[in-house]
Amino acid sequence: MSVLIGVVSQKGGVGKSMVSRLLATEYARVDWNVLIADMDSSQSTSYEWNLRREKNKINPSIHVERFTDVEDAIQVHESYDLVIFDGAPHASRMTKNIANIVHLLLLPTGNSIDDLNPQIRLAHELVNGGIDKDKLAFVLSRVGNSHTELNEVLDYLHQTGYMILSGHVLEKTTFRQAVRDGRSITETRYIGLTSKCEQVVQSVVDRINYLTK
Ligand SMILES: Nc1ncnc2c1ncn2[C@@H]1O[C@H](COP(=O)(O)OP(=O)(O)OP(=O)(O)O)[C@@H](O)[C@H]1O
Ligand SMILES: [Mg+2]
Repeated sequence: MSVLIGVVSQKGGVGKSMVSRLLATEYARVDWNVLIADMDSSQSTSYEWNLRREKNKINPSIHVERFTDVEDAIQVHESYDLVIFDGAPHASRMTKNIANIVHLLLLPTGNSIDDLNPQIRLAHELVNGGIDKDKLAFVLSRVGNSHTELNEVLDYLHQTGYMILSGHVLEKTTFRQAVRDGRSITETRYIGLTSKCEQVVQSVVDRINYLTK
């Protein structure tokens, strides 16, 4: 069976592609055959990142293909252990289609109310449209250094009743440099940052194990 993970948002720029690449490299490191389905062919963020990765001969290797609809991606899923759907900037019918077929649907959000509220609304829309609430999980992404703000955001999200993954992805210049070179955010030389990102990955692994058992 291939594991299917979606990474979607109502709003652009929340870190979907960053989180997709993080998961792809971490699963590939333990020998999973991973495909990122880049669902935004106009930007091709993950696709172009992988071209840089291949050019710089970075291991483990990841497959990235561009798709314009979910059906086409599903045609190839059996060739992979894991398919990660890196969603387009805005929610659309495609978001619902991704939500329907994945085991786990990640909703990355920054700490700003401008990011949080659209993601919470998207989660409500999906659940009202028949998507199992248990599939959904919020991921804190592009988080600043303020613990106070982080705790406020966690309180705010907890009130929604949705699952929130443990750990968070910090906003770091070094992460932008990593992607420029075709690396993921666990492939910098900063061990402390890597272990923080690994908490998010472990939380995804635990959730997938729970949802697919
Ligand atoms: N943790 C981070 N630290 C620093 N920069 C980040 C981080 N996460 C994302 N970025 C940068 O922020 C921008 C948006 O991130 P990303 O492309 O992952 O978001 P996205 O949700 O996939 O965007 P889109 O909706 O356009 O597809 C990119 O320039 C990316 O390099
Ligand atoms: Mg993207």
